[in-house]
Amino acid sequence: MNRLELIQALMRQKGLRNYLEIGVENGRIFFRVQSKFKVAVDPHFMFDTGRKIGKTILNPYNVYNQYFEKTSDDFFTQDADHVFAGRKLDLALVDGMHEYHYALRDVENTLRYLSNDGVIIMHDCNPQSAQAAGRFDDWKEGVWNGDVWRSVIHLRSQRPDLNVFVLDCDHGLGIITKRKPADPVLGTPISFTPTQIQALTYDEFDANRTNWLNLKSEDFAKAFFGL
Ligand SMILES: C[S@@+](CC[C@H](N)C(=O)[O-])C[C@H]1O[C@@H](n2cnc3c(N)ncnc32)[C@H](O)[C@@H]1O
Repeated sequence: MNRLELIQALMRQKGLRNYLEIGVENGRIFFRVQSKFKVAVDPHFMFDTGRKIGKTILNPYNVYNQYFEKTSDDFFTQDADHVFAGRKLDLALVDGMHEYHYALRDVENTLRYLSNDGVIIMHDCNPQSAQAAGRFDDWKEGVWNGDVWRSVIHLRSQRPDLNVFVLDCDHGLGIITKRKPADPVLGTPISFTPTQIQALTYDEFDANRTNWLNLKSEDFAKAFFGL
């Protein structure tokens, strides 16, 4: 299952509609989502008006799109209250700057607008090499997932009000939902401080990834969401 298939399944089976994507790039996912309320945030969109028109012919829902060509921090400071006034967000793909504190801020800001049954999907949570898992400044070539994995460890450690797990597919799809009183506790609890999380090495992460990420199979997601 990739992120688009999960988004489409959640929309189809759970009736989730209002969609936010942070980090859109060329819109390969964004333009295919079928919703009358879609918000795109990226400081450098990699598409022009011609592509927008072409994608609207292919998927007429794109006529309703709202575009914010700015950082997610600026979007949440300047626009989000207005954009989400009187309307809750159902589904968000957090896929912007792939560094611990950026991704964490994106999730925390998104949570302010998320409905009680809403779902946040955070991409690139399960890197497979030290180079893929590091900071952007240190990255040289190949896949770069960044250290979004630290954001998952942070949320699992610091936010008992949330369900947090990672699907073992598509570079690791982090799933974040608001925990309801009847929800089961997912996975073995962990309790790292932000300072400890920042100091974790890739080798430590690699040796503990299943537990720290609360890594789950696609079948788990299907059962969890009733897909
Ligand atoms: C991996 S791409 C997103 C891919 C897209 N979501 C997809 O699924 O195909 C990451 C994007 O994040 C954007 N980005 C970088 N820093 C950002 C920030 N501070 N706020 C929002 N987006 C950011 C980049 O411009 C880039 O287009």
